[in-house]
Amino acid sequence: MSFSCTKCTRLSLFLSDIKKQNPDYFCQPVPPFGDQNAQLLIVGLAPGMHGANKTGRPFTGDYAGLLLYQTLFDFKYSNRPQSLGVNDSLELYNARITNAVKCLPPQNKPLPEEIKQCNQYLKDEIDALPSLQVILALGKIAHDAVLAAFNVKKSLYPFKHGSVYSLNHRYTLISSYHCSRYNTQTNRLTADMFKAIFTQIQSITTPSL
Ligand code: URA
Repeated sequence: MSFSCTKCTRLSLFLSDIKKQNPDYFCQPVPPFGDQNAQLLIVGLAPGMHGANKTGRPFTGDYAGLLLYQTLFDFKYSNRPQSLGVNDSLELYNARITNAVKCLPPQNKPLPEEIKQCNQYLKDEIDALPSLQVILALGKIAHDAVLAAFNVKKSLYPFKHGSVYSLNHRYTLISSYHCSRYNTQTNRLTADMFKAIFTQIQSITTPSL
């Protein structure tokens, strides 16, 4: 993906503004992270202000990354249980993480046209993963972005926590509530529920540690 994408004017202006207030923050489109040969692609929503937008790595420094990276470690998709920063030597095995929207959106809410504009990057990322089998969508926005990348009708594949759909007879789309602070602190998504999603994923993919 292009690191200099400025196609969404609102997001581009917002990032420039945040960069002025926080000169040491990344404040650019956050690229995907992980194994280029991954069987599993995890799709989040968008970088968080003081997390991925600061560090330049998806879910790194974000509260939502705590459960995600711990679970990836527990299921042997990584060498460390935490993602601290781009120089922490964290490696993902058989997994890759990206976001439906690559730039930090105001109030964590990308506009429909921004999600649409960014969708080509997600589509290109999916096409560039030769071993991809399972896509885990975190939340409805990510779920719908994956459906858009496959150009299929949303109404045929409604988002539900734990929903499993076959796409193009080749990929499996599994969806979960987003592992956001709100969802985990209100127990909408518990660690056990997230674990169950990964158990399901592991029945399809083969971790390689
Ligand atoms: N950080 C990300 O990179 N993505 C999310 O969806 C949430 C936090």
